[in-house]
This record gives sequence, structure tokens and C-alpha cells, in this order.
Amino acid sequence: MNLLITILCLTLLLSIQTSSCRSCNFPAIINLGDSNSDTGGLSATFGPFPPPNGETFFHIPAGRVSDGRLIIDFIAESFGLPYLSAYLDSLGTNFSHGANFATSGSTIMPQRTPLNQGGYSPFSLDVQFSQFSQFKSRSQMISKRGGVFKSLMPMEDYFSKALYTFDIGQNDLTLLYVANESADAYIPKAMEQFSTVVKGVYEKGGRYFWIHNTGPLGCLTYVLVRVLRSMPELDSIGCAVVFNELAQKFNRMLNQTVSQLRKDLPFAAFTYVDVYSAKYSLFTQAEKYGFENPLRTCCGYGGGAYNFDQNVRCGDKGNVGGVEVLLGKSCMNPQRAIIWDGVHYTEAANKWVFNQIATGKFSDPPVPLSQACHC
Ligand SMILES: *[C@@H]1O[C@H](CO)[C@@H](O)[C@H](O)[C@H]1NC(C)=O
Ligand SMILES: *[C@@H]1O[C@H](CO)[C@@H](O)[C@H](O)[C@H]1NC(C)=O
Ligand SMILES: *[C@@H]1O[C@H](CO)[C@@H](O)[C@H](O)[C@H]1NC(C)=O
Repeated sequence: MNLLITILCLTLLLSIQTSSCRSCNFPAIINLGDSNSDTGGLSATFGPFPPPNGETFFHIPAGRVSDGRLIIDFIAESFGLPYLSAYLDSLGTNFSHGANFATSGSTIMPQRTPLNQGGYSPFSLDVQFSQFSQFKSRSQMISKRGGVFKSLMPMEDYFSKALYTFDIGQNDLTLLYVANESADAYIPKAMEQFSTVVKGVYEKGGRYFWIHNTGPLGCLTYVLVRVLRSMPELDSIGCAVVFNELAQKFNRMLNQTVSQLRKDLPFAAFTYVDVYSAKYSLFTQAEKYGFENPLRTCCGYGGGAYNFDQNVRCGDKGNVGGVEVLLGKSCMNPQRAIIWDGVHYTEAANKWVFNQIATGKFSDPPVPLSQACHC
């Protein structure tokens, strides 16, 4: 009899627990990262990305390097939240449900070489954190003015209820390769920096962290074209082995860093998302999912196997017979292409990857996105 009651109670408890975890109620998303999740930061600062960027979904350039939505847009949609405004965009922005601090070309490590001298974005991860800190305090001061000001700012308690998403590292890897720096020296420094920023966000109240690892860099055309000159080793699907190994080395260390953060910050919920494996499986099974020529750039120039020219990028114009024409054109069918401009993914690929990672199949712990609060 006692046993029966105990079993009944346990069953009841378990059912309460599972039902209370149907989904997390994130009222806001705060994102830090690079072009994989930039919704307008770099564009607002240094000038817009040209058409045909945005052609598929927004029908005008929308501050994203893609023909349409990015993974972060699908994440926002899945919670019924508006697309994230870029913190750096001072026109027409609405931060009531979060803000995006990512900019294209951002790195984890601070930068010394200016963008216009071949460097990376000045908004490295530490700068993004500094902007976030200001955003947190100043948004609340502005909110107090009431009316329209209040309607454009997040509520105070959103900072502890928000989902904090991170997608950064790809540019650190190309940087260290081009600068011929040792990965074994660089990556641990980058990990230390990453930890410092996550801990800073935690101190400001952040509790729910959704962390993307870096994708298979060696499958992207801009990298392939560069390494092909020095006769690289390609894998069975044609990706550059040395770059994918570098990405995987970075990811192993990121995974360890997140494990350590779980120990250091036991009241936070960390989800480590293996975006690398999701993207790599798309390249290997492209045809099965309706994609063709997986390594070919959709919006590029020059034709051939890669349709990519380092000097004529997506949206670039050129003078042909005295007439200015668009050279870096979109392909006929962006919804069947994976790579958009040689560096970034198409909306179709982003959507596919989102659908995969949202299930939890590529996550540690293996919970779906909707339960990233680990309720
Ligand atoms: C900002 O967005 C929120 C949510 O979408 C909306 O309720 C609010 O009215 C917007 N504010 C303005 C001034 O448009
Ligand atoms: C890169 O660095 C290694 C060791 O530091 C050196 O042996 C090699 O020559 C360098 N390569 C280039 C292209 O500078
Ligand atoms: C991350 O590390 C954990 C061990 O700490 C391991 O179980 C897991 O498989 C790793 N995840 C990935 C995607 O490598």
C-alpha cells in the first residue's frame, strides 16, 4: 500500500515536472557574435551590404549577409519575438524584446588593425560586452521617461529572463591562419576572453546561455579558394581538411570552456550547440535535402566549380563596355544553394540548420531550443 502511494506520488511529481517544462518563456534575446548573426550592426556603421543581399525574404538589403533570414532570426521567430534590432543601428530600432551586439567581421580577441586596412570589425567580443553593459543600465533610465521611450526598451526583469546567444570564432580562425599564429597559443587566450565575457553577462543577471560552436570553415568557398593555391588536402566532399581540423580544435576547447563555466556558474543554464556537425551534415547530404552543388557560391562571379572571385564579391558592380553592370549576381535558385556569397549561408541553409539545432539533437545537454532554460 505504502509502495503504491509512493509510486503514485512519484508519477504525479514527474508529470508536474515535465508539464512545467513544456517551454521556456524567454521575453527577450540578447545576441553577441559575428556575421553569422549580425542583423545590421556593421551595416549601420560602415555602410549597407549591397543588393542582392536580402532579396529572398526582406526584398531589400536588411543588414544581413544572406539572401534572407539568419539562424538568429529563426530563433526569434520560434519564440514569437520580433527580429532583433542591432544595437549600433540608431534608426527605427526597437529593443523591447532584446538587442543584437553582433557585427560582421567580429572576433573574440580585440583588434589592432583597422577594418579599412584589412583588419576585422572593431566591435570584438569585449566591446560588445561593454555595449551590452551600457544597454542594460541606460535602457532602464530611458524607460523611465515613459510613453514611446518605454515601449522601445526591455523591461528590467527581462535581463534575467532573456536567452543569451553567442556565435563567434570564425574570424579568429581565419585571422590566426593568415597571421600565421599558433592555434595552440591563440585559442586558449580566446577562450579566456570568452569566459570573461560570459561571466560578465552572468554578473549583469544573465542566466540562460545558448552557445553555438563554429562551423566547418574548410567547406566555405573563400577558404577553399585560398587554400587551393597551396595544394591542400580535401576530404571526400571537397572541404579543406586543415581548416576543418582547426575549427574542430577550436570547438573542442569551446566545449571544455563551457563545461568549466557550468561548474563556475551553477545557477546558469548552458546549452552548447554543435553547429559544426549540423552544417557539415548538410554539406554531406545536400542532395537528399534538396540542395545542389553544395560548395558552389550562389551570389558570386566567375562561374566554374566555385563561382567565386576574391576581387568581385556578391553585389559588386563593374564596368563592361562603358556601362556599369552588376557582376556579383545571385544564382537562379538561392533556395537550392547552401553558400550565399562564398563566406555566409543562404536563408534556405540557415533555415535547415535552425530546424536541426532547435530539436536538441546537436546540443549538450540534448534539450530542444524551447527548453534552453533547462526548466
Ligand atoms: C516596439 O515593439 C513592441 C513589440 O513588438 C511593440 O509592442 C511596441 O509598440 C513597439 N514600439 C514602437 C514605438 O513601435
Ligand atoms: C609560420 O610559422 C611557422 C612557425 O612559427 C614557420 O615555420 C613558418 O615558416 C611560417 N610560415 C609563413 C608562411 O610565414
Ligand atoms: C563536449 O564535451 C562533453 C564532455 O565534457 C562530451 O560528452 C560531449 O560529447 C562534447 N560535445 C561535443 C559536441 O563534442
